[in-house]
Amino acid sequence: MRTPSDVVAAAGARAGAGSGPENSTRAAIELCGVVKGFDGHAVLRGLDLIIRPGESLTIMGGSGTGKSVLLRLIIGLLKPEAGQILLEGQDIVPLPERDLLPVRRKVGLVFQGSALFDSLPVGENVAYALREHTEWDEAAIRARVREVLDLVELNAVEQQDPAEL
Ligand SMILES: Nc1ncnc2c1ncn2[C@@H]1O[C@H](COP(=O)(O)OP(=O)(O)OP(=O)(O)O)[C@@H](O)[C@H]1O
Ligand SMILES: [Mg+2]
Repeated sequence: MRTPSDVVAAAGARAGAGSGPENSTRAAIELCGVVKGFDGHAVLRGLDLIIRPGESLTIMGGSGTGKSVLLRLIIGLLKPEAGQILLEGQDIVPLPERDLLPVRRKVGLVFQGSALFDSLPVGENVAYALREHTEWDEAAIRARVREVLDLVELNAVEQQDPAEL
């Protein structure tokens, strides 16, 4: 049976990296033998995947091939039938919902549809995670919201509702 470190070694070999120190670099995200299906229909059949810190990876595939299922598995919204899913070395598969919350705080994920709260203006959508997960005061939250909206040149729409964009 494969183990996560076997998969790291295999990925290193594929990349022609030999047995140098980069092979022992802990993966940011690692999947090992992940199996997931619905109602007898197999979607992922033993998926192995390694994403190292700082690495960018694009996953492409036709509609219904399992891209969104993969992302939901990585943040623990779905559980696989078999395999391991490691985030910074921690297997999240056995974790109960309560222990998944700190794991999810490490991950940013934009859903394909309904990505914004329609009932909140743009600025409040951006502020949402800070209000939920930090003790920052109002001034600090407002400053951070302006800072990140400025990065993407969206300051002008801070007060607008998503439907007005
Ligand atoms: N909760 C679910 N219940 C039953 N089947 C599901 C569920 N979620 C996904 N599936 C099925 O799993 C398969 C993969 O779906 P997924 O949403 O991952 O596809 P995708 O690659 O993201 O497609 P798209 O490019 O259209 O977004 C599809 O056959 C889909 O119908
Ligand atoms: Mg999808």
